Amino acid sequence: MRIGRKNSRFMAMMMMLTMAAGSLSGCGSQKPESTNTEVLQEQADSSETTTNAGGETESDEPQPLDKSLYMDASKDVEERVEALLSMMTLEEKAAQMLQPEQSAINLKEISEYGIGSVLSGGGSAPLSGNTVDDWQAHVNEIKQAALDSRLGIPILYGIDAVHGNNNVYAATVYPHNIGLGAADDEELVEKIGAAVAEEVRATGIQWTFAPTLANPQNEMWGRTYEGFGEDADYVAKMGAAYIRGFQGDKDSAEYLDDKHVLATAKHFLGEGYTTAGMNQGNVKMDEEAFETLLREQLVLPYQAAIDAGVRTVMASYNSVNGLKMHENGYLLTDVLKGDLGFSGFVISDYNAVQQVSGSNYREKIVNSVNAGVDMLMEVTSWKECMDEIVAAVNEGSISRERIDDAVRRILRVKFEAGLFEEEISGTTENSLKEIYGGDEHRALARQAVSESLVLLKNDKIGEKTAMEILAESKNILVAGSKADDIGVQCGGWTISWQGSTGNITEGTTILQGLQNAAGDDVTIEYSKDGEVNAGNDAVLVVIGENPYVETSGDRKPSNLTIMGSDKKVLDTIKETAKAAGKEDIPVIALMLAGRPVTIANQIEDFDGLVMAWLPGTEGDGVADVLLGDKEFRGTLKYTWTWDAQDIADKFADGNEDKILFKKGSGLKKDGSSISPDGTVTIGKKPE
Ligand code: GLC
Repeated sequence: MRIGRKNSRFMAMMMMLTMAAGSLSGCGSQKPESTNTEVLQEQADSSETTTNAGGETESDEPQPLDKSLYMDASKDVEERVEALLSMMTLEEKAAQMLQPEQSAINLKEISEYGIGSVLSGGGSAPLSGNTVDDWQAHVNEIKQAALDSRLGIPILYGIDAVHGNNNVYAATVYPHNIGLGAADDEELVEKIGAAVAEEVRATGIQWTFAPTLANPQNEMWGRTYEGFGEDADYVAKMGAAYIRGFQGDKDSAEYLDDKHVLATAKHFLGEGYTTAGMNQGNVKMDEEAFETLLREQLVLPYQAAIDAGVRTVMASYNSVNGLKMHENGYLLTDVLKGDLGFSGFVISDYNAVQQVSGSNYREKIVNSVNAGVDMLMEVTSWKECMDEIVAAVNEGSISRERIDDAVRRILRVKFEAGLFEEEISGTTENSLKEIYGGDEHRALARQAVSESLVLLKNDKIGEKTAMEILAESKNILVAGSKADDIGVQCGGWTISWQGSTGNITEGTTILQGLQNAAGDDVTIEYSKDGEVNAGNDAVLVVIGENPYVETSGDRKPSNLTIMGSDKKVLDTIKETAKAAGKEDIPVIALMLAGRPVTIANQIEDFDGLVMAWLPGTEGDGVADVLLGDKEFRGTLKYTWTWDAQDIADKFADGNEDKILFKKGSGLKKDGSSISPDGTVTIGKKPE
């Protein structure tokens, strides 16, 4: 069984629980002494009349079950929502608000409780394997289990399809958002969203936790590559395009049909502004300054997402001035649901409820739900969480109105997404398997790779530029192991949560792409160590970062650099070129990284520098530009400092000399700049 990050984290937790409880029943949580049904019945009985905080007795006696009142697709959504809500017990409402990890719950529990949603965390694949068929079978039995519940409310299955259906083997994997941002091609991003939706739907899944709408200010943050760029208005444009792709245009007949998926605007909000770029860190800013930033910047991507028809928002882990977002009622409710008019539902991040203030789990749940969290991604403690929600309502710390509001939002989205009419193992789903990871999508990904490349250095050598010389070379040495590594190209969130080096899925490496593109009269040599020989006309060295995700990608100024092994390759290139009498051989560096990194000590040795970000599976897209007819199009959407220690102040006036490449930089093969503000003048390396 493929153990993803969450499963590995989950499995460790379950082993501890097993030792403590002496037995582990099924794959789900610990079973209480009495059977669940008896427990539920007791709760249902007890919840018929309660006294709320105001001392009034309320009855939540559910209306008699009459499925026809909400199964009738000809009725309008709000009517169906109210009809269904009126028939739900408090326990069933609490169950709709939970999203366990798929490996932490069994089919019987899904049916018994009427669970609202499950997720596959990064790398959490079906027990049977990681092919599309494995996934479809796995998802369909979970869907059926939900339909077998008392009310038959369909389940939402969520997954992080953030640059393709990236958990699944042989899926088409596209450039991460930082590369799509460099490409600045809204139409392309919308097409990618639609293509990803098809590959997600092929597995039966209806919901992706994407796109990230952060506008990262500090690239020491491990999630910088999930952002399209540093400017919120630009992120708004690109995020809305991705959402239109995932969901279909909200005014079109294809909106949320069975070839599209629900998107998620995440992570609300301000995660790109934490001190030192720390993941899940704190945004420290005086209230007035934050309010201005909020209204002028931070809300822009979310307003655009809502205008594009997004129906789910994921709350962020970060805090603002010490208050965790998951308990920030002002932002989650007053701003998001009030000012921005968001009528979908807010889902918490992975176990994030456990991070908010409160002396016990119930208090944390109360603080989160009352702040505006509607669905709780409490991946293993889902049963306890459900029970605590019921208890909190019965004691009056969460009002019935709040619970009804949360469940109303969840049901609304399910009705809008057509889940109540969804065919399990439908013909559409099966037809989508045919295009899964196929030529059409890979061609789209290849185009995205080409458009995402940013040429940042392109020195004149004699009459020609470095890129012109490379394209005319008859013998090119490709150096560095990253040149031939699909895992490095894809980065995090690929097959496993963290991603990994190596041949992790199907695709074309940069080296293979160059070999495919080279004419009969061109030799592409490969030396992972960077050993130049007298026969070489030019060197293309691939450097950068190995895959990482979230906090594992956080860096300090001292280690936001290319890897030590890459520095060794660069040294070997210098030494062996000299030994081979090729001291002046043109050296073009191509960087695979999730962000700008410090290259102050290397840049002068490069005659050319191409930033390729994390391009995904279609390495051919690099060769299409480097050796083919395609021109560079990409421009920087992040400000790149000479040294990471200057990142925190990089936007301050008077720090221009600290900037290596300004935002907007991007060159063409002839050395001209792509846009008027794209000229690149590499200044003097600061002391
Ligand atoms: C993670 C991430 C979030 C992701 C969620 C589910 O911790 O913060 O982006 O969607 O968990 O995998």
